[in-house]
Amino acid sequence: MENMKSARKDEAGEVGSDLSEQIKAATKENHVRAENTQLMLSYQKGQITVTQYKVLLCSLYEIYTALEEELDRNCSHPAVAPIYFPQELSRVESLQRDLEFFFGSNWRKKVIVPAATQRYEQRIRKIGKQNPELLVAHAYTRYLGDLSGGQVLGKLTQKSLGLSGTEGISFFSFPGVSSPNRFKQLYRSRMNSIELTERERAAVLEEAVSAFEFNIQVFDDLQKMLSVTAETVDQSRSKAAGFQSSPIMQFTVGVCVALATVGMGFYVL
Ligand code: HEM
Repeated sequence: MENMKSARKDEAGEVGSDLSEQIKAATKENHVRAENTQLMLSYQKGQITVTQYKVLLCSLYEIYTALEEELDRNCSHPAVAPIYFPQELSRVESLQRDLEFFFGSNWRKKVIVPAATQRYEQRIRKIGKQNPELLVAHAYTRYLGDLSGGQVLGKLTQKSLGLSGTEGISFFSFPGVSSPNRFKQLYRSRMNSIELTERERAAVLEEAVSAFEFNIQVFDDLQKMLSVTAETVDQSRSKAAGFQSSPIMQFTVGVCVALATVGMGFYVL
């Protein structure tokens, strides 16, 4: 047992042999970069706008739909079963409620996502079919993030948008998780119980880095889309004197022009 690396970080701060520790260490720098994207910085300054939040919800809906469909389909795969917690973690229904709150009952027709979101979603679907043992990397990146910094983001969204109650922000609340910290510990121990070959473990760590990068690209695309949208709305306001379009029209027209301008995908469910 002498050679066996400690399950916890030792005093020198070295990373042990547990997947949960290795994945955290492998993605540390990507986490810093994700926190420092324009979108996340707006969040941290308490300056998130309703438009930013709405486009973010659309992308999250697409991402979680893919993730949860692939987790469900692979729920008895030995590398998925230990981290399969649909009751506690599933986000698709809460995202549907939030989208309905902001876009109305025909929200499905209004879901618009940039190309980066489509790439992220396609990657999840591909590994769900070809390498389900890599799904843990994506589940970790999103769910543990939602149970960590995500909890603060929920409060900031509520405050920035002046929302009372949980309407519009059910994405951030996990009624099936009474203590996020204890749940994260359970999740980490389940991750650590997954049996992986050395090659598979390396691939999971690499996939987690990609998962963070996919998120960064989605945030960057959304931000680009919105900066073009803001310009478009400003221009159309000054051009269309006397014509008052509704905010939702401005949002839709603006986002469509933005997607065309920055060459991104246009995707309606
Ligand atoms: C405003 C942006 C963000 C803030 C302020 C933030 C903050 C935090 C904090 C405080 C923790 C807990 C660290 C710990 O327990 O040691 C954490 C953990 C985590 N965050 Fe973030 N985060 C942000 C964005 C993100 C994003 C965009 C992602 C990925 C999509 C993400 C994924 C994670 C993950 C996976 C963990 C768990 C790390 C682990 O314990 O293994 N975070 N975050």
